[in-house]
Amino acid sequence: MTHASSDVIRVEGPGRLAGEVFVTGAKNSSLKLMAAALLASGRTVLYNVPKITDIAIMAEVLRRLGCDVRTVPGEAPGADVTVGLGGRDGFGDGTDPAGDGLSIDVPDEPGTDTDYDLVRRLRASICVLGPLLARRGRVRVALPGGDAIGSRGLDMHVAGLTRMGAEFSGEHGMIEATAPGGLVGAKVWLDFPSVGATENLLMAAVLAKGVTEIDNAAREPEIVDICDMLTAMGARISGAGSSKLTVEGVSELRPVTHRTIGDRIVAGTWALAATMTRGDVTVTGVNPSFLEIALDKVATSGATVEAHPTGFRVAMDRRPQAVDVVTLPFPGFATDLMPMALGLAAVSEGSSLITENIFDGRFMFVPELVRLGAQIRTDGKHAVVRGRERLSGAPVRATDIRAGAGLVVAGLCADGTTEVSNVHHIDRGYPDFVVDLRRLGAVVHREHAPPEPTFAL
Ligand code: EPU
Repeated sequence: MTHASSDVIRVEGPGRLAGEVFVTGAKNSSLKLMAAALLASGRTVLYNVPKITDIAIMAEVLRRLGCDVRTVPGEAPGADVTVGLGGRDGFGDGTDPAGDGLSIDVPDEPGTDTDYDLVRRLRASICVLGPLLARRGRVRVALPGGDAIGSRGLDMHVAGLTRMGAEFSGEHGMIEATAPGGLVGAKVWLDFPSVGATENLLMAAVLAKGVTEIDNAAREPEIVDICDMLTAMGARISGAGSSKLTVEGVSELRPVTHRTIGDRIVAGTWALAATMTRGDVTVTGVNPSFLEIALDKVATSGATVEAHPTGFRVAMDRRPQAVDVVTLPFPGFATDLMPMALGLAAVSEGSSLITENIFDGRFMFVPELVRLGAQIRTDGKHAVVRGRERLSGAPVRATDIRAGAGLVVAGLCADGTTEVSNVHHIDRGYPDFVVDLRRLGAVVHREHAPPEPTFAL
């Protein structure tokens, strides 16, 4: 895998995806499980961690906090996996060839100052806030800032931790949090079921004194995964997967070995891509119940969907019918699949209304899809898409992980060549994307792009 920021992905269209594809662990689970490791001294081992840039950056964040982070061979037969979703994912027998392991050795006193540039590059690294505050009573992190999908505040993280006794200050782009009297359990109501705020509060609460209640908590499968790992570490949590989490703080946690759940967003990308390309794709490595609404949408558009214990099959033999999509917190349609839903709408018969409720800037990549001939008009959180039989290949630019993947998939529904630049965004979330596309029959190449010409007066 290469990560050169100047790489491009060249798609020769039209293409049809057919065959089997294996999905590895969820990025948005693994990143937080790595942060959760900070809660216990000693060696935590995580399996089924995806080989993507964001994980490499998070590993570096932890190293700068004094942890020793190494890759370990895939899940060995008979490995003592004390938790993990073996049953739920249908794995856990130790034979999964794609399981990539990561060992994290956490010192008795991990550092409290995170690296400014690393945190700016990876918003998810803000999730060290809760664990470090709980263990060390002090933490300094860079303000992660916005990115190409919207403003993304931290107010709910700060308000919740403040209720638990933390004090915040900030200067020079950093925020500093201290808990002079130690964190204490509190009742916290979230204005919105924020994934990141729920995770930070949860990871702070497990070591706080007394009981914490998080109301209107996020219910994403990744939250349940963290709760499973924390519980195995000795935490006392009830309500995982519901909108009310109750946490009874304990004085100490122990490190464990854990297997990450499969990546529902990568899996959903294949489901939508199979539908759009009139293909036939079997996806393995994910619990299909994580994707119920997305799979229902592709079925409504005309695809045949078969769920099995470790994944699903999506087969399509005609032009998709237009379907409306509304993004919402889990179990709603995932915002991270919205770019693919726009692509599906762009080639469907009829008009679709796509509503984005989570990120205010998620339609920012729409002009790139329009370059491919998509007929899309946006107004605030709504996009009206008039489907056409086929798109038309053109050079386009990825602006974030999911927009990048969405453009590549849209390129499969276009005549001629689509060249997607800024591929480093896709590397942040999709391990071996091009390899998988080729395995499914797409004519697609990854190339080093020539440098862009510079002009001077
Ligand atoms: N928000 C606030 N204040 C806060 C926290 C959130 O206003 O204190 C707002 C955000 O600005 C956003 C909305 O609430 O508009 C949702 O944010 P949330 O906290 O739920 O999202 P996140 O934790 O920042 C995670 C994923 C995203 C995914 C969202 C929603 C990770 C690392 N990121 O982000 O994934 O879209 O949840 O499901 O877990 C991706 O993987 O490409 C990605 C963007």
